[in-house]
Amino acid sequence: MAFRLCFPKINISGAGSLAEVPGELAARGLKRPVIITDETLVKFGLVAPLLEGLKAKGIEAFVYDGVVPNPTVPIVEAAYKVFVDNKCDAIIGVGGGSPIDTAKAVRILSANPGPITLYEGVGKVAKSGAFLAAVNTTAGTAAEVTSNAVITDPVAQVKMVIIDANIIPDISVNDSAMMTGIPVATTAATGMDALTHAIEAYVAKGAHVLTDYAALEAIRLISAYLPRAVENGQDLEAREMMAYGQFIAGLAFNSAGLGLVHAMAHQPGAVKDLPHGVCNAILMPLVEEFNRPYAVERFARIAEAMGVDVKGLSTEDASKAAIKAIRDLSATVGIPSGFAELGVTEGDFPLWVQKAQKDPCAPGNPVAATDEDILELYKKAL
Ligand SMILES: [Fe+2]
Repeated sequence: MAFRLCFPKINISGAGSLAEVPGELAARGLKRPVIITDETLVKFGLVAPLLEGLKAKGIEAFVYDGVVPNPTVPIVEAAYKVFVDNKCDAIIGVGGGSPIDTAKAVRILSANPGPITLYEGVGKVAKSGAFLAAVNTTAGTAAEVTSNAVITDPVAQVKMVIIDANIIPDISVNDSAMMTGIPVATTAATGMDALTHAIEAYVAKGAHVLTDYAALEAIRLISAYLPRAVENGQDLEAREMMAYGQFIAGLAFNSAGLGLVHAMAHQPGAVKDLPHGVCNAILMPLVEEFNRPYAVERFARIAEAMGVDVKGLSTEDASKAAIKAIRDLSATVGIPSGFAELGVTEGDFPLWVQKAQKDPCAPGNPVAATDEDILELYKKAL
């Protein structure tokens, strides 16, 4: 069966790689990029070196810094207005998943009619639009690698997932020197998101030999280096290995797909505005416990990649050890153990069950879940 492996054409990584971006634009004759980012990154000086580098190449950049976590349709429209008003010819997303997803949405609107809600679902973007460089500052959503953009529609109270190879950035940048200032809670949450990508991709229905190696290596890197990055944000080796781990996790899930953890996590994320990585981390051990009997050997290999000594264990016991390792890692990096402490109540669940079933990530799960299964999993996650 044919298998599609999709990722950006050019991927630049390593400390200091941000400095490569102005030259990439200049080489393409691009003169007026919009930089889509958030206020905090501007305040902490992460955007200034890019502006200086662009200026040195004679490129005039325009900044939209109004992106917030879980970006909404009005934010996409505001960012697109900056693109149009300044006759921009390129887009540079700088940040984690939220600014980069906003940048992808602006790219859609640069070549296709609005509103952005028209593009919810898979394969609806006819034209890829303006050049897009995605500079990732977290580790991570891997938004710089993928064909996904998640935009919240505040009217429908839903996280719209747009999936199309036409929105994969032209260039991804992972500059680990930009990641040392990430706050502890964000490091933990985004790191657990990356682990969820790797594990869901490895056990997904769409898993393939071309993605398995990346998913397993991502699991190994993230398990080994996330606790170090959380403990000491200045640990450059840990930041660099997390940047690579989340990148290859992105490479894996972009082509293998995700599963029920993401399908379920999108709902509290949309309605309660909770961090995506925290929602994933809370749900992952429960959903993977549910999935484990359908992928016993794969979970045994996950345990090994997570550093569990599986010598002498049966495959069954090794697979169970993977679930414990996920739970332990989540606790080590300080993720809350349930949704109750984040303001979620049991009354929220019935609506979420239907939305999770319809989420485009759900079909990738190794086994189909019934409405009752999903409700039960949400209840366990409280
Ligand atoms: Fe994710």
